[in-house]
Order: sequence, then structure tokens, then C-alpha cells
Amino acid sequence: MNSSRRDFLKTAVTLGGTAAAVPILPGCVSRRVHPPPVTDVDAPVAGLINLTVGLYPALTHAGGALTIRPAGLESHPLLVVRVKEAATPDTFRALSGLCTHAGCPVGFVPEDNEVECPCHGSRFNFETGAVLFPPAKSGIKIYGAVYDATPASATFGLLAINLLSGDASFPALKDGQVVFPLGMFAQLGSPGGSVMGVSGGLGKPLLVIALADGTYSAVDATCTHLGCVVEHIGVRGDLECPCHGSKYTLDGTVTQGPAQRSLTLYRATRQGDAVIVDVCGDASVGCRGK
Ligand code: FES
Ligand code: FES
Repeated sequence: MNSSRRDFLKTAVTLGGTAAAVPILPGCVSRRVHPPPVTDVDAPVAGLINLTVGLYPALTHAGGALTIRPAGLESHPLLVVRVKEAATPDTFRALSGLCTHAGCPVGFVPEDNEVECPCHGSRFNFETGAVLFPPAKSGIKIYGAVYDATPASATFGLLAINLLSGDASFPALKDGQVVFPLGMFAQLGSPGGSVMGVSGGLGKPLLVIALADGTYSAVDATCTHLGCVVEHIGVRGDLECPCHGSKYTLDGTVTQGPAQRSLTLYRATRQGDAVIVDVCGDASVGCRGK
């Protein structure tokens, strides 16, 4: 084992503290992943991390990658990848830096344009985060990354990573609320129906469920074990994480581990022809959309 690979595996078992118990399985370790250098960066401001690309040599050439640890979010590193030489707004991608299988730091394989985990070989699509190869069962989170090459030169352009970016087809957080018109989200008009997506301004998967008694439940669908996205199992009437089997009730209460903590529950009410989720009601999130 060469020194760079040794250093990376050392990083893998210390970064964020979540990967400490990951077994490196004999014969299962990927041999293609190169270690992305890890760099501490400033804390995000209003959900935005701004990087001056020229300060990071790994990001000045296509195929280069860097793992960044934002201050205050050390357990949530991000993998930043330069996917092409040309300086355009989509020159870079930003993804969660941790594998959804067991939390190892991931790397970028430029020859395949894939994100890969060195621990047990899971691979992910760098554009969508979708799983390409197991054992990971849940996709890796993608963040908005917009490159502005106009200052000075293409080399020293600015990259803005938005930790609160959301799905274009899903309602964004506004004035502390996410509004779901029933005309657009008809699933919420029937008991047992549900919708899920990432709200811009919230930056987390939001799962809203129409309950049998006519009320609604809304939870942050991020599993509290290692951050996979939980699924609504309609026929069974509960929530389950596809990664390691944690289960939750529809109000987010954990009923089966390995997760130890319940999901964050938001207040959701029907008002006229819409279901309104009040994100400000949760003290851990606050009214960031205001
Ligand atoms: S931690 Fe097992 S494949 Fe990534
Ligand atoms: S991430 Fe492990 S059970 Fe959900």
C-alpha cells in the first residue's frame, strides 16, 4: 500500500467520526479511487459556500477533485469536482463527501466520470447522485454549484455551492413555509398519498404524507443513522430507510435501529386548496427562508 492510499484510508476512518467502525473488507476494496485532498473552508453564509478556485490547485484542471470541510459542518464534508476545462457555470459539481453505504469518504474517478467509494466499491453518478453499483442502496446528495468565471480570469473564478438548493419541480421554502397546492400535488388529496422532494431554501428531503384521519405529517426524510433518504411504505403505513433498515412511524418516531433518533417533524396543515408545511415551527431549522 502506497503512502497516499494509506493516508486516504486514515482519513476515511477519522473524517466526520461517522466512518470509524467501517470494516475494510478483504477483496472488496476499490483500487481505482485516488484520495481527494481534504481542505477546511469557511462556514457557509446563508447556506452558501464561496470558493476562489485558483486557491485550490486540485480544482484548476478537469478531473480534479477536492474534499472540503466547511467550518461548523465538519461531519458533513463535500466532494467538489471539476468536470471540464472550459469555464462555464456548470464547470463544477458538488456532492456529499460521504458514501451512503457506511459513511466512508468518496473520491472521483475521472476516466469513468463516476464517484466511487474506496471502502467497498460503491459507485455513484456524479450528475444525479444515483447509485450505479452497490453495496450502497441510496443515492448521494447533490448540491447546486455555479461557477462564475468573470472575475480576473477563468483560473481565479468563483464557485458558489448552495447547501440549501432544491429540486426545480418541488416547492421552495418561502417565508418559513412550503406550500403544496393540491391542484399540483394531487397525491395529498387522498389518505396514504405522499410527496417527497428537496425544497430550495431548506436543502433537505421533505416528505409530506396525507394521513387516514384527514390530517398531514411532514418530516425531514434524512435518516438519522447515516443520512440516507427514508421511504414511505404505503401498504405498511410507516417509513423505512433503504440503507440499513431503520424504521419510523409516520410522525418520524424511530421504532427500529440502527437509527437512534427520530426524524425532525414539521407542522403540516390543510388550508383551503393547499397543504402548508411550517418549517419555522422547528427550532433546529429556524426561518431560514425569511
Ligand atoms: S462505505 Fe461501503 S461502499 Fe462506501
Ligand atoms: S442511513 Fe443507516 S439506517 Fe438509515
